[in-house]
Amino acid sequence: MNQPKQFPAPAHVKHARLIAWVAEVAALTQPDAIVWCDGSQEESDRLCELMIAGGSMTRLNPAKRKNSYLVLSDPSDVARVEDRTFVCTPDADDAGPNNNWEHPDKMKETLRGLFTGCMRGRTMYVVPFSMGPIGSPIAHIGVELSDSPYVVVNMRIMTRMGRAVLDQLGADGTFVPCLHSVGHPLEPGQKDVKWPCNKTKYICHFPETREIWSFGSGYGGNALLGKKCFALRIASTMARDEGWLAEHMLILGVESPQGEKSYVAAAFPSACGKTNFAMLIPPQSLGGWKVTTVGDDIAWIKPGKDGRLYAINPEAGFFGVAPGTSEKTNFNAMATLKENVIFTNVALTDDGDVWWEGMSKEPPAHCIDWQGQDWTPAIAKETGRKAAHPNSRFTAPAAQCPSIDKDWESQAGVPISAFIFGGRRSTTVPLVFEAFNWNYGVYMAATLGSETTAAAVGAQGVVRRDPFAMLPFCGYHMGDYFNHWLRIGHQVEHAPRIFTVNWFRQDAEGNFMWPGFSDNMRVLKWIVGRCGGKADARQTALGWMPRFEDLDWSGSDDVSREQFDQLTTIDTDAWREELKLHGEWFEKLKSRLPRSLTLKKELFELTLVD
Ligand code: OXD
Ligand code: MN
Repeated sequence: MNQPKQFPAPAHVKHARLIAWVAEVAALTQPDAIVWCDGSQEESDRLCELMIAGGSMTRLNPAKRKNSYLVLSDPSDVARVEDRTFVCTPDADDAGPNNNWEHPDKMKETLRGLFTGCMRGRTMYVVPFSMGPIGSPIAHIGVELSDSPYVVVNMRIMTRMGRAVLDQLGADGTFVPCLHSVGHPLEPGQKDVKWPCNKTKYICHFPETREIWSFGSGYGGNALLGKKCFALRIASTMARDEGWLAEHMLILGVESPQGEKSYVAAAFPSACGKTNFAMLIPPQSLGGWKVTTVGDDIAWIKPGKDGRLYAINPEAGFFGVAPGTSEKTNFNAMATLKENVIFTNVALTDDGDVWWEGMSKEPPAHCIDWQGQDWTPAIAKETGRKAAHPNSRFTAPAAQCPSIDKDWESQAGVPISAFIFGGRRSTTVPLVFEAFNWNYGVYMAATLGSETTAAAVGAQGVVRRDPFAMLPFCGYHMGDYFNHWLRIGHQVEHAPRIFTVNWFRQDAEGNFMWPGFSDNMRVLKWIVGRCGGKADARQTALGWMPRFEDLDWSGSDDVSREQFDQLTTIDTDAWREELKLHGEWFEKLKSRLPRSLTLKKELFELTLVD
């Protein structure tokens, strides 16, 4: 019988527990080689060359986009697989009805079976990474073991990755072990496929031991384990235990023409325009307002000594949805995408650049679509085929973003004045309103609904409850999570105000009623105005709402007073229906639902009289 291969760790690695874990995983998965990643440009270049040579990656024309690449995934592996995502706690009730559950022992047994020999014929990469600026008191370290070079080059952009993290870890620092395999071993002489993956997929979280095991997918949040798996699912349980918040939120700075700066954090479900909102360019007609970007997807938020909440962006890059992104909808994103970008599942143009639906008004006359086939506007018209997959993505360094905030890497984080929650709702939810108080705000966020998008596998356009935009990302029982939010708000002296927005309301003909994009600044200005005691509002059954004259319409005649009335109308019948759905949702969480939220619902029912 062959002896298992031995892989001594490099001399500079001093962390005995890490060395032992890597050896243990190597014995299980049986890779051909192990590479300890240093995070250097040379290393990334080498891995890209390897993927280009293997046919799984294409270098874009450097005259068009320097140091940038395109990768096309297998058509079966294009989004997060929520139905294959598990939270494994000893007691099923701790995972809650919002998670798929399995007992840790049973799941480990299944996973050990799947991981046995799963890296044969491949290299296992050891990827040390920091979520948050290295050394920040809000940051945490993870180590991902993966047999995917695509994961390594993406993790290098999305996190602080490599040698500096190992140095920070020292001999006994704490890290979250993140094990990943595409689940496609190669027998001797077997040719690799362009996008190895496995029909069987398991994305598993073990909150008690703070571990992640992911098998079978190479795509996005299934495979870049620092993002949804660590920074949200595992971090949310750490946050619950340690008194902080790990949220699916962008963070942006707003500066008035007088130089007053505030920061807000906003939660929207996947593919609802978080990246666009985080990089918003205010209309010039508003006279010198500025928006700066701290993060576009995740916020880690901790109480500061001054009684305020402070947030960091634990990520170092943007993994944004490409379709719909253009100079018009998101100028700053397009500027960020000029170099050092990895594109996944967009189309390749004949001059070696990329294209996706919505990038330009005129589509290219010909391109190669995300499935590697010829695509022309005529083919699209005939077959309905998209050039780019609706969940195609760009991975780009945050530092390249023209609107990046000067304090985006601040070790202490930035102070948050407001939380904003928004869903994609064609009816019912008005443009904007402010909660009467913290508990009302938590109620609104806890009952947030949104029409589903392509970011996850499954039916699209169906309204589902997506509390705090965290339904797929909360690593424990949602009822406990609501309680945690209620507690945090009462613990801090200066709790942020809470707002609900809806950019997606439609008229009877199905047209969007709100122009969105840069006009969202008008709403944002009102929001920071409310926080600073400078904006008026009227009281409604839902909360404080702007009257037409409370928003700054300078330079805009897109929205008439009548349209604004429609946008902000509270349709009592629709809200009665909505409250029934809240009731159904609460019923599912019954065993751990905070009493104050059921009381709030009863109050709403009483106030909704026409
Ligand atoms: C994401 C998501 O990738 O929310 O950010 O799906
Ligand atoms: Mn997201």
